[in-house]
Amino acid sequence: MSTEEMSAKDRRNALSSALGRTDELMDSFMDVLKQDFSAKQHEKRDFSDTAAMLIPDDEPVQEQTEPEVLFKEPEDDRLHMSYKALCADASTCKRCGLCTTRKSVVFGTGCQDRPVVMVIGEGPGENEDIQGLPFVGKAGQYLDRWLAAISLSRETNVYITNTVKCRPPQNRDPYPEEKSACNAFLKRQIQLVNPQAILCLGKPASTLMTGQPDATMGALRGRFFFYDGIPMMCTYHPAAVLRDLNLKRPVWEDLKKLARYLGLQMGGS
Ligand code: URA
Repeated sequence: MSTEEMSAKDRRNALSSALGRTDELMDSFMDVLKQDFSAKQHEKRDFSDTAAMLIPDDEPVQEQTEPEVLFKEPEDDRLHMSYKALCADASTCKRCGLCTTRKSVVFGTGCQDRPVVMVIGEGPGENEDIQGLPFVGKAGQYLDRWLAAISLSRETNVYITNTVKCRPPQNRDPYPEEKSACNAFLKRQIQLVNPQAILCLGKPASTLMTGQPDATMGALRGRFFFYDGIPMMCTYHPAAVLRDLNLKRPVWEDLKKLARYLGLQMGGS
């Protein structure tokens, strides 16, 4: 983890522990120096013993060797596929249990060539599973209104997909192993589509894309992250806002922030 990614609390803890170690070193260093300076005040000073004490030469220098790699995971083939090949691979995918209950594989829709925003949702619901397209149900229609409010649309400048491409039964959250089996699709989609920005909707997408599995939506929303150098904003899922209208205001704040960053025109909410 880089220092930029550490929280203030983690940085304070690291600094406090480094200062503690420095303090101990300074103490022993001062003890040795004090003895030398008082004993040899009027003599020509010879610090060779002190130097030898502080830097003993009996520790052989350890050669840094690479840890032995016993088993290297082969790189996933999907990470080298064209968009068309990736789609075809997904259409017959059996990498997790969701393939046994799905009606369709819901791969993605919209502008595939450098869209202004790539939206990443959780996973297909019932309507999406039937139609084979993401965000076509109630939540999807609401999402279209959010996008329109900041001059975006799936017909022109937005690409929409999900963390998993098959519907989890009863719309439950996708399991970690399902997200991880599907992750190479999402990774390669991002590389190929090359969006100007990413918008994650809801906790499964936000925690996956930020690499913070235990974070809450409250902690992740409204901030810019960078995914492979692409600016990324997280906000609540439209289905969650339809259930709790108090979330409407924070979503609008997040969308405005994203729109301002991208230089988009804002209408109303
Ligand atoms: N909710 C999602 O997260 N994705 C969809 O495609 C539809 C509903």
